[in-house]
Amino acid sequence: MDATFAKPVTLKKITDPRGSLVALEQGRDIPFAVKRCYYIYNVKEDAPRGFHAHKTLEQILLCVAGGCDLLLDNGKTKTTIRLDDPATAVYVGPMTWREMHNFTPDCVLLALVSDVYDEGDYIRDYDDFKKQAAS
Ligand code: TYD
Repeated sequence: MDATFAKPVTLKKITDPRGSLVALEQGRDIPFAVKRCYYIYNVKEDAPRGFHAHKTLEQILLCVAGGCDLLLDNGKTKTTIRLDDPATAVYVGPMTWREMHNFTPDCVLLALVSDVYDEGDYIRDYDDFKKQAAS
């Protein structure tokens, strides 16, 4: 998977009469070593999430169920991607502001990430993000 800003990637889906399976492999679909995964679910109506960037963290985001809108902003360009396909993932690199909106009630948003949780890696103020992205 290319580490390109805001580019959804179609993952290989193995479908047979029983259903579908998607596998993500480090080095093929994931351009970093995965040290953590987390998932967001049971999101209340009108409860957007995210609203931060990371200084160094890399992530792969995909909805394994339901859907949400992923807004990505690299300080110059903003784009919104509808994530609603378990076989479509987005790489989100460092210094990318992200917001997630319009979650369906059944949404499960999965994140595969390059490091353990560290609040010090977050930029939670948009003006700070803009300044750091410009420098
Ligand atoms: P937060 O990063 O604010 O969630 P969002 O994805 O909506 O931006 O995290 C919510 C809370 O969960 C916050 O108290 C930090 C905590 N948290 C962890 O403890 N570990 C994790 O891996 C993550 C992502 C969050």
